[in-house]
Amino acid sequence: PFLDPFPPLPGLYTSFGFSLFAFASVVYLVPKAGPSFVKAGLWGRDLLKVYGDPVPESQGLICASVYILTLILFIPFAFSDAFSSHFNSKSKSEPEGLSVNEFPLYQLSVYLSSILSIIIAAILGFLDDVFDIRWRHKLPIPVVASIPLLMVYFAEGGNTNVVVPIPFRGLLGLGALVNLVEGPLYYIYMSLLSTFTTNSINILAGINGCEVSQALIIALSVILNDLLYLPWPVDFSIPVHLLGSQREVEIGGVWSAGMAYGSREMVERHLFSLYFMMPLVGVCAGFGYHNWYPARAFPGDTLCYFAGMAFAVVGIQAHYSKTLLLFFMPQIFNFVLSCPQLFGLVPCPRHRVPRFSPETNLLYPSRAKLESKDGKPRPPSGLAALILRTFSVLGFVELTFGHDGEITETTNLTILNVLLVRFGPMREDRLVKVVVAVQIVGSVIAFLVRYGLASLVYDG
Ligand code: UD1
Ligand code: MG
Repeated sequence: PFLDPFPPLPGLYTSFGFSLFAFASVVYLVPKAGPSFVKAGLWGRDLLKVYGDPVPESQGLICASVYILTLILFIPFAFSDAFSSHFNSKSKSEPEGLSVNEFPLYQLSVYLSSILSIIIAAILGFLDDVFDIRWRHKLPIPVVASIPLLMVYFAEGGNTNVVVPIPFRGLLGLGALVNLVEGPLYYIYMSLLSTFTTNSINILAGINGCEVSQALIIALSVILNDLLYLPWPVDFSIPVHLLGSQREVEIGGVWSAGMAYGSREMVERHLFSLYFMMPLVGVCAGFGYHNWYPARAFPGDTLCYFAGMAFAVVGIQAHYSKTLLLFFMPQIFNFVLSCPQLFGLVPCPRHRVPRFSPETNLLYPSRAKLESKDGKPRPPSGLAALILRTFSVLGFVELTFGHDGEITETTNLTILNVLLVRFGPMREDRLVKVVVAVQIVGSVIAFLVRYGLASLVYDG
């Protein structure tokens, strides 16, 4: 019933090597392919610079291609265990293939359905870069793209038990577990997760290095979290029940020896997640090198979409979607803040990036005028005014008022503008560092909540 001390490591080393290769490929390919992108019309102007040179856009396509190819090349290594045990147990005179029981077909379908969803997301992102697809057209696509994932999850008899926090149990008269298997609720939640992860990175964008550093930090946080679940040969003081096992287990001195029966599944899930996250770190770090201020390449929606989908994939397949969402706190904040503009309560200009002043070389909060499309002033509805005033009290926006006391202008509802409202104008390279810091602080809080507070609110 116990795991061997180091079963996962050969795969991990290989995956790490592949990730280094992915990193080097992206570092090399991005500037090489730049001119071809510009020639194909895939370029954009850096909105926050004085110069107007074309910067190759949608180069996330290179990251997506390298990433997907890396994942595919890795397949034989991910499943080499099955082959080695097969050939070790057979004599040379019996050269037959693996039987159905010997090969982990289920895990292969997990792996393949994940790659499929990521490919669809990459295609969608690229089409969005080329055609600028409307919101209402592109929102449902990640939902459809997650069907293969959900199907495989369902086939496994996915654990759709949602643990209800202790304080709510008495209140709602629910048992410790609410079983949502009968209802489609949990599946709807998971399909919306992919819509959220893909779009939320894309709308926290517009300054050099912003999208790619979010993806990088979230991926590193996920990796750190995954590593907690591997059977390390050292004393680990995180109690197993906090790691999500339903069984209370005494783990004793050596974790590998103390792993509970049944946890092999957990180790395998987190290994799967590592296999997907390490190459993602590779391609994002490689791309970040060219996208950092002053950017020589733009990621486009392609990067935001395939990276976002990769997060949804591991969150769903490795069963830690709630922990994953904790790493998305800045994105959740940015999304909630954006809602009045996304859903049309407040006008939403095509670009909400901060305003650049060539005189000072600083960024200032950008503004949205409250007017109708033909330029006539349009006072906000009661609800919109209430929201904007609340945001203003919280220090998220700066409002401008007309002489009749009506709101005429607001700073755009994004976290980038909030940071500028709060900390004052700053240079672009400084703002992106502040965003990186916010994301890192968010991850630290996420770990504290997950492994500190979770014991108070959840009992295992
Ligand atoms: C999203 C945001 C939009 C923001 C844009 C910036 C929402 C609803 N949409 O739109 O407000 O302005 O991202 O990416 O919040 N660019 C730069 N510097 C950068 C990155 C991008 O100037 O570091 C500019 C370039 O002109 C580039 C363009 O943004 O061509 C890319 O915009 P795109 O990704 O197509 O915008 P959306 O994702 O639709
Ligand atoms: Mg974009």
